[in-house]
Amino acid sequence: MRWLVTGGLGFIGSNFIRLVLRERPGVRLVNLDAMTYAGNPANLRDVEGDPRYAFVRGDVCDPQTVRDAIGSGVDAIVNFAAETHVDRSILDPAAFLRTDILGTHTLLEAVRELCVPRFLQVSTDEVYGDVPDGESTETDPLCPRSPYSASKAGGDLQVLAYRATFGAPVLVTRGSNTYGPYQYPEKLIPLFVTNLIEDRPVPVYGDGRQIRDWLHVEDHARGILHVLERGELGNVYNIGGGNPRHNLEITQRLVEGCGRSMTTHVRHVEDRPGHDRRYAIATAKARALGWEPRVDFENGLRATIDWYKANGAWWRPLKSGEFLDYYKRQYAHR
Ligand code: TYD
Repeated sequence: MRWLVTGGLGFIGSNFIRLVLRERPGVRLVNLDAMTYAGNPANLRDVEGDPRYAFVRGDVCDPQTVRDAIGSGVDAIVNFAAETHVDRSILDPAAFLRTDILGTHTLLEAVRELCVPRFLQVSTDEVYGDVPDGESTETDPLCPRSPYSASKAGGDLQVLAYRATFGAPVLVTRGSNTYGPYQYPEKLIPLFVTNLIEDRPVPVYGDGRQIRDWLHVEDHARGILHVLERGELGNVYNIGGGNPRHNLEITQRLVEGCGRSMTTHVRHVEDRPGHDRRYAIATAKARALGWEPRVDFENGLRATIDWYKANGAWWRPLKSGEFLDYYKRQYAHR
C-alpha cells in the first residue's frame, strides 16, 4: 500500500504519519507539504530515515506537483494541507481560500484523472458554526462564520459535490479542537503554555466563557485512520474528544501546570470578531465504526504541558521572526 499524505509536516498530519509508520507496517507514505510557516520538518525528524517514508516539497494547488507526488499511483490520499488558524484568517483570508478550497479542488481533480481509489478530507467541527446547545450531527447544515471555517466548508462541499457528480471515492472527517505535541504555538493551548513557561501573560479573548471540545492529537489521528480504513465512501464522520471546557478552565489548568498565577499571568483582551461561543459534535457515527477516544483529558493535558516544558528546543525557534510579526499584528492593539 502507498498513501499520499498532504500537509504532513503540520501538527495533525505529522502525528498521523508517525502513527501509520508505527502501526501499519505494510504502508508506505509520501508526504507532500509546502513548508509554509506551520509546516515544520522538525515535526518528523524522527522518521526522516524510515525507508517507508518519502518527503516531497510542493503546493497542493499545483496540478503537476500533485500528479508527480502520486507518481505511478497511490491507494489513498489523506488531505491535511490547510491554513487552519482562525485569527490569521481574519488578518489574511486569501491564503485560506487558496489552500483550503483550491488545494482541495486540485487534489479532487487528480483523484478523478488518476483514478485514486480513496480520498479523505480532514475537516473541522467549525464548519457547523456556533452551536448554542445540543450537538452537531454530520447531516446538519453548514454555517461557518469565519474566513477559516468558510474555507474549510467550501472544501468539504467540493468533496461531497465530487461524490454526487462524479462518484469520487471520498470521505470527510470533522475533528474537534485538537491538542498535543508538535502544535504550532499560535493556537490556545501551545500559545498559552509557551507564554507561561517564558513567564509572559496569556491573552484570553472576551470573557473566556467560550466552549471547545478537546481531542488529543493521537485520538484524532487514530480517528482519521479508522475512517480511512473502515468508513463508507461518500460519508462524513465527526471526531470529537467529548471534553467540553470553557477557555478559562483550560487557562487555569495551564497556569497551574506551569506554576504561575491567574492574577499575574492572565489578561482579558478584546474579543475575536465573530467569535463562536461553542462547538459540540455528536460522534456516534465514528464510534459505530469502532473508534473511540482513548486519552483521558486531564492526563493528556498534563502530558502536553510536560512535553512543551521538555521540548523548548522545538518551540523556542518558532517563536521568533515571522511569529513575532504575527503576534504583534494580532495582539499589540488589544
Ligand atoms: P484556537 O486555538 O484559535 O482554536 P479555534 O478558534 O479554532 O477554536 O482557540 C481556541 C479558543 O481559545 C477560542 O475560543 C479562542 C480562544 N483564544 C483565546 O482566548 N486567546 C488566544 O490568544 C487564542 C489563540 C485563542
